[in-house]
Amino acid sequence: MTYIEAIQPVRSASAKGAAARSDREAVLTGLKARRKYLPSKLFYDETGSWLFERITALEEYYPSRTEKSILWRHAQELMRGVREATLVEIGSGDCSKISLLLQALRPEALRTMTYVPIDVSPSAMEESRQQLRQRFGSLKVRGLVTDFLQRLDPVARYWNKLFCFFGSTIGNLERSQAERFLARLGRMMQQGERLLLGLDMVKERAVLERAYNDVSNVTARFNKNILHVVNRTIGADFDPDLFRHCAFFNEQQRRIEMHLVATCDMSIGSPCLDRDLEIREGESIHTESSYKFTAGDIEAFARCAGLEVNAVYTDENRWFSLVDYLRRIP
Ligand code: AVJ
Repeated sequence: MTYIEAIQPVRSASAKGAAARSDREAVLTGLKARRKYLPSKLFYDETGSWLFERITALEEYYPSRTEKSILWRHAQELMRGVREATLVEIGSGDCSKISLLLQALRPEALRTMTYVPIDVSPSAMEESRQQLRQRFGSLKVRGLVTDFLQRLDPVARYWNKLFCFFGSTIGNLERSQAERFLARLGRMMQQGERLLLGLDMVKERAVLERAYNDVSNVTARFNKNILHVVNRTIGADFDPDLFRHCAFFNEQQRRIEMHLVATCDMSIGSPCLDRDLEIREGESIHTESSYKFTAGDIEAFARCAGLEVNAVYTDENRWFSLVDYLRRIP
């Protein structure tokens, strides 16, 4: 984990080594499991981050533009009275969403703010830093390159925090993990501090499945790219083109599942494995779950985090919710 105070994102050698070891272990555990899976955060190497930005611009992928339209419409209201605050954004990506809030601030207010983006991708972090410098020169930026599940504690030292967790990224976590994470956030929050949480809502299957099966196959490329990351992480020899992208809505679990399905039998070698990994035709590797939410979940999250629902903003289709949670200590 690193603070990025300089222009170049620098990560200490020891932090990098530890992250690489834990990625390696996670990959090996997932690939040896009876039902193979991979950690979704591995999507976001430089190519993956770039492909994800392309996904957000797809006509089929409604979540990004819908959430942005909500932020755009309510930016003034959301930022009313926010001054001398620290905006902590979890999974900041290309920083296009925070920009919608920042542009609602007057220059005097902007100068009093600190922005703390947290993201696993150093390349996305560096690009967004340059963008912000151009558009909002007086803003202080203190980025953290880390997996937000690993270490958030450096953030606790800031006063007057406004947490932002956009994009329904929380949907990538299993339910219990999501609840534990929100409880941890809640404990870091002081009286009057807020959390803006973006949640993609349960909706008609066709709309959901289209968003993860675009006709231009950008999502398929994004999915397959994880095998390049795996090859680099454990020195394996996966051929991503021997897998087929598969994404569907699992209604019982209320989640989109993305898989890579083997199109033939193959055996995969890696110096980290004592024997080759046998993969059969039709066998799948589960690469991502993207949970979808209901009004009940919005309330349940408030309870487990010890927060109050201050307001819920949505779009005309009610496809996406932006929840404004408030910490109020009785
Ligand atoms: C980054 C988690 C919000 O789950 O919709 C997009 C990632 N995967 N298309 C999502 C993703 C396939 C995305 N999140």
